[in-house]
Amino acid sequence: MSETETPIRGLGHSVRRKEDDRFLRGRGNYVDDLQLPGMLHMALLRSPLAHARITAIDVEAAKAHPGVVAVVTGRDLDAHGLAWMPTLSGDTQAVLALDKVVFQGQEVAAVVAEDPYVASDALELIDVDYDPLPPVVDPHKALEPDAPLIREDKQGQTSNHINHWEKGDRDATERAFATADKVVRVETFYPRSHPAPLETCGCVADVDPATGKATIYMTSQAPHAHRTLFALVAGLPEQNIRIVSPDIGGGFGNKVPIYPGYVVATVASLLLGRPVKWVEDRTENLISTGFARDYHMTGEVALSGDGKIMGLRSKVVADHGAFNAAAQPTKTPAGLFHIFTGSYDVPAAFCEVDAVYTNKAPGGIAYRCSFRVTEASFLIERLMQKAATELDIDPAELRRRNFIRPEQFPYHSVVGWVYDSGEYQRALDLALEQLGYQELRREQRERFARGELMGIGIASFTEVVGAGHGADYDIAGLRMFDSAELRVHPTGKAILKLGVKAQGQGHETTFAQIVAAELGIQPEDVAVMEGDTDNTPYGLGTYASRSTPVGGAATAMVARKLREKATRIAAHLLEVAEEDIEYAEGRFAVRGAPDRAKTIQDVAFAAYTNLPEGMEAGLEGVTYYDPPNMTFPFGTYCVVVDIDKGTGVWKVRKMVAVDDCGVRINPMIVEGQIHGGLAEGFAIAAMQQISFDEEGNCIGQNFTEYLLPTSWETPKFETHATVTPSPHHPIGAKGVGESATVGSPAAYVNAVLDALAPLGITNIDMPVTSDKVWAAMHEKGFV
Ligand code: CDP
Repeated sequence: MSETETPIRGLGHSVRRKEDDRFLRGRGNYVDDLQLPGMLHMALLRSPLAHARITAIDVEAAKAHPGVVAVVTGRDLDAHGLAWMPTLSGDTQAVLALDKVVFQGQEVAAVVAEDPYVASDALELIDVDYDPLPPVVDPHKALEPDAPLIREDKQGQTSNHINHWEKGDRDATERAFATADKVVRVETFYPRSHPAPLETCGCVADVDPATGKATIYMTSQAPHAHRTLFALVAGLPEQNIRIVSPDIGGGFGNKVPIYPGYVVATVASLLLGRPVKWVEDRTENLISTGFARDYHMTGEVALSGDGKIMGLRSKVVADHGAFNAAAQPTKTPAGLFHIFTGSYDVPAAFCEVDAVYTNKAPGGIAYRCSFRVTEASFLIERLMQKAATELDIDPAELRRRNFIRPEQFPYHSVVGWVYDSGEYQRALDLALEQLGYQELRREQRERFARGELMGIGIASFTEVVGAGHGADYDIAGLRMFDSAELRVHPTGKAILKLGVKAQGQGHETTFAQIVAAELGIQPEDVAVMEGDTDNTPYGLGTYASRSTPVGGAATAMVARKLREKATRIAAHLLEVAEEDIEYAEGRFAVRGAPDRAKTIQDVAFAAYTNLPEGMEAGLEGVTYYDPPNMTFPFGTYCVVVDIDKGTGVWKVRKMVAVDDCGVRINPMIVEGQIHGGLAEGFAIAAMQQISFDEEGNCIGQNFTEYLLPTSWETPKFETHATVTPSPHHPIGAKGVGESATVGSPAAYVNAVLDALAPLGITNIDMPVTSDKVWAAMHEKGFV
């Protein structure tokens, strides 16, 4: 490359996000921006009660309201066999309630009108008679034999128990506990959280009465899978369904499930022959769409006197709400919770999870984490903190003694994972160094002697991302591979079409960088297209940090396929044997004579104009990639807090995050992902939860109740990186999108508890609010 040539901005370049030009200028194209000719608007009537029989629904006044075109009830849907729909976990969910409502906010009826305000107003004219039933709010009480049965609709369902799942060796674990010097136990509740994406869920369903073609513009993180499910449920031919996910304003798992609103809008469009738009408001999104967490966890770790882990076990009661709509791979109903051994070399482990119905909204989605990894990581890191306190070993030292060592990789865990790579000690050391750990520990002792409280929290985490491999991981039977189709045009510019679908992650930039790295076409010359099922190859979508490990790998693989053909074309142009061509940075050069070279642009033009004898024209291909394993990003987060003795208010003095996601495609985007996750992690630890009163009323129906951190509350983050490539990934990248939310809540909680440990306070459930801290200190007589 001459000095004047621009370097190819492939891996490791902080290329500015291509998509931001349109977002920052207000030129994004979201579902609610769509206006189709003749479009109608739909609004949903939702149940005010958590558990009640419906004895009558009178829709006549609503129907008669000017501007109302139709009113739909569960009975109307039932007439078409569409009153129930399958969930991603193989349960059935009412599209519109028939005889009974089972959570506050459940969909009861729909109004379709000429105008969105008319549709909303007419909801008030629908008269529903409810006969209240006792609500079941606590999942432990839901399991009691005399608990009211929530799912009377399910044949053979005699209790509120959904399923039991376990992993590991119970006997070996019990033996480890029997011989341990020390057993440490944590009982904790990881509260229900909500992703609360900036854009709520919605769709425009447009069924063409002439052709029968259903085009559904939809806020979908998984458009291809949704098309297949629509086809299977509605019995529509799949080629006649086109799902288009335009720009999406944040997903975080919330836009993976199929919601009743999508189904009713599609049925309404089919029956009325006009497009129908449905877009939720904020409250509807918070009270009815997929939540995350809600895990009641008991964990125990067995240790030797010198702090070596001998065994680990946990028991979880998982609150799934009124329908089991958890978005999990089918073979693992508790997601990937069995990563609960974390970053540690654990010789015996056993976990069991019981899922339970309650009168709450359904969910269980991968909210900024891989399926249930956040819960698992929180549990093991809370156990490590408590064990350090009880054994009086420095928490960093306790981790050091138990980390899986670099030479143990690939590491086969006792619960069946094969960790691809990791250097846990390195990440911890970097975090401690950046924090100034030893000095802070000294300061902490001095402060405590003066009656001041300060804590240092550590959380070392290992995520597991990039589902599948398809043989073990599927959603509703669809194997979790992903795909990329790449077409290089005669002028050397390209279009990349993907099976994944970004909701803000920056795929249009990073995936173009992968092509740049493999073929030498600059990122701005690669258009990335996602989210249109008629025009992109089949894929399982974007959630659980799977895009880079799976879709990114598919992109590298398809670019390599094209490079092979390009090498043959270059050999033809340079009149040498194929073996004599060397590729680097977009140039195909003759080995030993670097000045004799063709650029990718020369080759692309030749692919359409000057081919070797017998070669097919064009430069394009498609790859469906099924990864051989998951990838295991990791890191260590450290937090320093000061606690005000008089009020219990805790403030973050310093937060250091070290992340290792293997090779970073775009370091700036990775930083952005981590900042977002760290803010979420802080929110979960400090302020954010969806809770319910005894009647099953949802507390958290708007942003005055469900607290999102603003820049005012959010602490400053210091981010650092180590790079341990994934050996089986074509470019060594691991996913990163969610790690920060996985690792950081435990770091915050551990910091507060580290400060309170000398008072004998070893647990406070999240959110760790100042009043809880104050009450705990008060109980110990400290204030
Ligand atoms: O599945 P999702 O896109 O949410 O998560 P991801 O694959 O972890 O990636 C999030 C964003 O970070 C994407 O734009 C990735 O391409 C980028 N990334 C990166 O630049 N380098 C990595 N090693 C991992 C992700």
